[in-house]
Formats: sequence, C-alpha cells, structure tokens
Amino acid sequence: MRHPRCLSLAAAALLFGSWALLGCEQPLEPGDPERGHRLVLQKCTFCHYVDGRGGFIAPPLEKGIALAEEVARDYEKRAADLERLHPKSHAAAREKIAAVLAEKDSTRRLELWFDTYLRDTKFDNPMTKMGNVLLQDQERVDIVAWLMTKRVLR
Ligand code: HEC
Repeated sequence: MRHPRCLSLAAAALLFGSWALLGCEQPLEPGDPERGHRLVLQKCTFCHYVDGRGGFIAPPLEKGIALAEEVARDYEKRAADLERLHPKSHAAAREKIAAVLAEKDSTRRLELWFDTYLRDTKFDNPMTKMGNVLLQDQERVDIVAWLMTKRVLR
C-alpha cells in the first residue's frame, strides 16, 4: 500500500507532473532504447543533428556520443582537470564525480556519466555550452538506453 501522504498529495503531484516532489517516487522501468530514440527526436534535435534531421547549434549527436565516450574513458583526467581549473565546481560535484570514477566497467561508467550529465550538464564541466534539458526520470533513463546503443568505442 502506498504511503497515505503520497495518496493525499497525489493530485498536487499530478499538477506538477512529478512524484519525485513528494519523495515517493515510482520505481523506474529499465531503459527502453526505442522510447529513448523517439524522445531524442523530440527533445534533442533543436540543437543536434540526428538521423538526417535537426539543428546545427550543437555537434551532431553521433559526435556528441563519441565525445562523451572519450570523456568517460579518461575520466581520471576530466576529474583532475576540473579540480585544477575549477576547484569550486569540483568541490560542488565531488560525490557525483567520485561515483563515476568508482565505476570501473566502461559500459556502466559511460551509462552513469550520461545519466549524471543529463541531470546536470555542467556537473563536471562548467564551460559546457549545453544547458539542462528538462526530462522526467523515466525519459532520461530511456534516452540513456538509446545513447548506449550508439556507442562507437567499445
Ligand atoms: C539547446 C541546445 C541543445 C539541446 C536541446 C541539446 N543539446 Fe546536447 N549539446 C549542445 C551543445 C551546444 C553541445 C556542445 C557542448 C560543448 O561543446 O561544450 C552539446 C553536447 C552534447 C553531448 C556531448 C557532451 C560532452 O561534452 O561530451 C551529448 C552527449 C549531448 N549533447 C546529448 C544531448 C541529448 C541526449 C539531448 C536531448 C535530451 C541534447 N543533447 C539536447 C546543445 C544542446
């Protein structure tokens, strides 16, 4: 049974479109790359070129994915550079960065990096030109699942 507080505030939560506001999040489904693909076409093509359509404000998404793979592969360097060049940003994101560094499996590390990046694009690079895209948790998980199918480096 759901917590009564969750039920009584459910209507308010629906207004905001977020259960997370109540601290009684619904469990997420595993990422679905097909749903992720549809979401990417809706939410990312304003700036990124994907599947023959989209904008040129940002690198084509394929390029963005390859860049992210390089970042994740050499994450020790990203973390060290951030600490040296932007110590305050590094301190603010210490836990998120440590979590990525702790992930020694390259697939899981990249997945976690994408997830953290899509929650807060500036977490480990205050100079990035990509701002946050408003995504619900399930949308983010689905998008990450699709991004993972587009990896170039293995
Ligand atoms: C408002 C424009 C805009 C939107 C919308 C946008 N991006 Fe970006 N994105 C950028 C820009 C600009 C860059 C290049 C960042 C840089 O060079 O610092 C970028 C870079 C990236 C990168 C490479 C990150 C790195 O530093 O390695 C990934 C991955 C990415 N975007 C994924 C996405 C996904 C997925 C979406 C949709 C959920 C999305 N972007 C939506 C503008 C956007």
